[in-house]
Amino acid sequence: MNELLTIYEVGPRDGLQNQPTLVSGRDKTALIGKLVAAGLGHIEATSFVSPRAVPQMADAPDVLAAAMNNHSEVRFSALVVNPRGYHRARAAGAQSIAVVAVLSETLAGKNNRMSAQDSVAMAADLAGRAHREGVACRVYLAPAWVCPYHGAVPQPTVLAAADRMWQAGVGQLALADTIGHAHPLEVGRLCEKVASRCDASRLAVHLHDTQALGLANAAAALSAGIRTVDASIGGLGGCPFAPGAAGNLATEDLVLMAEKMGFSTGVDLDSLWRAVDFAQALVGRDLGGRTAAWWRSHRRATPDSPYNTDVAGCGSLLRDH
Ligand code: COA
Ligand code: ZN
Repeated sequence: MNELLTIYEVGPRDGLQNQPTLVSGRDKTALIGKLVAAGLGHIEATSFVSPRAVPQMADAPDVLAAAMNNHSEVRFSALVVNPRGYHRARAAGAQSIAVVAVLSETLAGKNNRMSAQDSVAMAADLAGRAHREGVACRVYLAPAWVCPYHGAVPQPTVLAAADRMWQAGVGQLALADTIGHAHPLEVGRLCEKVASRCDASRLAVHLHDTQALGLANAAAALSAGIRTVDASIGGLGGCPFAPGAAGNLATEDLVLMAEKMGFSTGVDLDSLWRAVDFAQALVGRDLGGRTAAWWRSHRRATPDSPYNTDVAGCGSLLRDH
């Protein structure tokens, strides 16, 4: 039997948070439906952050509630950056939260309005609280390799933060290449190092594809024993507070590579491409990762194939925008 690879889909949160045009809650819910239909079982649905800071996530309670009601078989996470967000997420019914610990000083100031030290302490507090309350919790260590303001993040900083989160009882650590500037050798090295202090099954990598290294970095993480990789539908994504943070590693690229390598992702690529089409209609521009050109030519070459999904399903959505 093929080894399982868990894809943690961040499109509805990381993908949409930076989009200039507000996407309605109904359309976010529909996008989540397409992702679930494609077989994605771990989805970061939204974030409970200040609506003034990130207007796109103002409808977090509604989006999370709709997702959980519609798809009880899927694990939906909600991202939080402070205790207020944790309370709001729990009040909205969240059973799984993702907390951001920002390791670099300037980014912590911009993203969390606190020092890096306070951000790590707060994430550990929230992880401990989640643990006590029986709430699944992942913590992002961000950035784990390269900071947009200070360059390379020292490995001891990452390891110390990782140790602190394990002690606090975190369920999963996600090492984040927030701006997509890490290269495969350093991704592999850090993954191995962190995995040697814990169980690799409790580690994930969160990758962006800014420098076209997303897939190579994912392959390096897989070689280091990591079996949870974050990705975003169509490569949608970016952080409003981290200059240069372009799109995430595209889910369809990751699925294609992983399946070819013999991993089982549980994701159906045809259905996933329907989700890419839908996301494209939502944001009004072409999406798709490194495999997009191949997929498009494949669809043209085989017009009767299921790949050749038009945007008929997006009709009402297009009219609404
Ligand atoms: N949910 C909703 N509103 C929140 C909130 C939360 N989790 N945390 C803070 N706020 C609101 C406050 O009510 C206040 O609103 P007001 O200006 O209408 O009075 C405003 O945000 C600022 O609150 P304050 O307590 O001064 O927070 P802060 O300035 O110390 O921190 C952050 C603000 C960091 C919480 C806020 O900027 C934020 O949520 N940023 C988003 C970070 C993010 O999503 N990054 C990308 C993903 S990592
Ligand atoms: Zn990201």
